[in-house]
Amino acid sequence: MNEFFQMLKKDHVEQKGIIGQLTETKEAKKREELFKKLREELVPHMKAEESIFYPPLLAKKEAREDAMEGVEEHHVSDLVLKELETMPKGEDQWGAKMAVFKELVEHHIKDEESKVFKSAAKALNPDELQTIMKKFDQEKQKIKKSLH
Ligand SMILES: [Fe+2]
Repeated sequence: MNEFFQMLKKDHVEQKGIIGQLTETKEAKKREELFKKLREELVPHMKAEESIFYPPLLAKKEAREDAMEGVEEHHVSDLVLKELETMPKGEDQWGAKMAVFKELVEHHIKDEESKVFKSAAKALNPDELQTIMKKFDQEKQKIKKSLH
């Protein structure tokens, strides 16, 4: 598999791990701690995908439909993430919302890994993917730093 897709997959594994831990605890303090960790992983990854990875896909006929769906999934995930951020972490509703968020993110990851990566491999050549990978990583690190 292309190096860039492997990089994204590695992020996905990390994200799913933290989300899994988050759905297993009801303790507010633990939730806060894990949620902070999740945001630090998820936000830079998603924003960098939106600004670096998705635009070249949206511009190609063979990848556009899958990419558009990916962008919409990011949008919905972002809305729920913002609600999770502001809502008190000790409430039952937070746990319920987190469970829905888990489904959203897992569905999105599955779509990306099964559909978007395939379309991207068709639409972009290895050199283009290499350039996108470098830019993606730089952008992700930049956003990560700006969160602190
Ligand atoms: Fe994504």
